[in-house]
Amino acid sequence: MAFYHKLGKIPHKRHTVFKKPDGSLYYEQLFGTIGFDGMYSNSYHERRPTQVKEMKVGYSVKPKIAIGNNLKSYRFKGFKIVPAPDYLESRKVILTNSDVDIALASPQASTRNYFYKNSDADELLFIHKGSGKLRTHLGNLNFKYGDYLLIPRGTIYKLDFDDENNRLFIVESRRPIYTPKRYRNWFGQLLEHSPFCERDLRRPYELETNDEEGDFVIKIKKQGEIFDAVYATHPFDVVGYDGYNYPYAFSIHDFEPITGRIHQPPPVHQTFETDAFVVCSFCPRKYDYHPESIPAPYSHSNIDSDEVLYYVDGDFMSRNDIEEGHISLHPAGIPHGPHPGAVERSIGQVETKELAVMVDTFKPLLITEEAIEIADETYYKSWLEGNH
Ligand SMILES: [Fe+2]
Repeated sequence: MAFYHKLGKIPHKRHTVFKKPDGSLYYEQLFGTIGFDGMYSNSYHERRPTQVKEMKVGYSVKPKIAIGNNLKSYRFKGFKIVPAPDYLESRKVILTNSDVDIALASPQASTRNYFYKNSDADELLFIHKGSGKLRTHLGNLNFKYGDYLLIPRGTIYKLDFDDENNRLFIVESRRPIYTPKRYRNWFGQLLEHSPFCERDLRRPYELETNDEEGDFVIKIKKQGEIFDAVYATHPFDVVGYDGYNYPYAFSIHDFEPITGRIHQPPPVHQTFETDAFVVCSFCPRKYDYHPESIPAPYSHSNIDSDEVLYYVDGDFMSRNDIEEGHISLHPAGIPHGPHPGAVERSIGQVETKELAVMVDTFKPLLITEEAIEIADETYYKSWLEGNH
């Protein structure tokens, strides 16, 4: 996150003596990115955070590739992903490349017997169904329908769900995820023309400080494998921290759409950026107000990016036969656009209720075996007119 946050108690100066009430020391940890050049936080722990008891052999969770070189448009029916009790087992990667995994998850139960940490990737969780609390070693965040949860790599976390009905759209990014640079001033502050500002970004508000010894399993993801690391002290033992590197939440309902007299291009919907893909939020908004405007998009050749749309809610004006939870993939290399009739249908309409999340990747996406199980293989012909 591009602004400072402090939670709990910290010493007056960093790297100085910080004593517990009994006179012994708290233990400092630097939680930093991009070597020592990126965002970081300094946290203060009841126990040394390095006490590994056992490191078990890793097991692979790498996605299995069904189609390595794809030129077909696809539709995937995301709600056909079968729910599973466990959060990590419920995560199914649908699309992948060397920068990003795009996954769906339908966990039925809160994470109880382990903590989770992704050491390779920032995780962006979009909450489509469900509510609860994200619990991390840097504090907690409540979440509900429409929230993005940005969990920086290295964050130790658990998810508590209020009930069994949960649907998540997950972007796992090996490149750091930031808010768009063009919306920030030289100091990092979000500018007046940004579709959201710092007030919309929710920071951790509650620290859990457990001064406990025992056997604490952190499932650590590294290079496509998960290692069960058994720690001798509770991973949530922070008494305070400050800095810029911490998880945060942003509700898609707080995104203020940018509209115009004629059709605005997808970058106006941009919410997050990396150097390998962008994430956009398509939110309910007033349509273009030029008297001759065509609110539906024009056909476009995304010549050098694959385009993924995750449909959340509302009526999807440019598409026929699209329902919530569906994912469309429009690959680089061929043009795509509104379905037959959608352009004509859009003329004269004044607003849209559509809600969708878009991920545009600069490298091509590979399609996994899990994706093929929920794929509509005929979608790529859905632009044909008449009796072809
Ligand atoms: Fe498109």
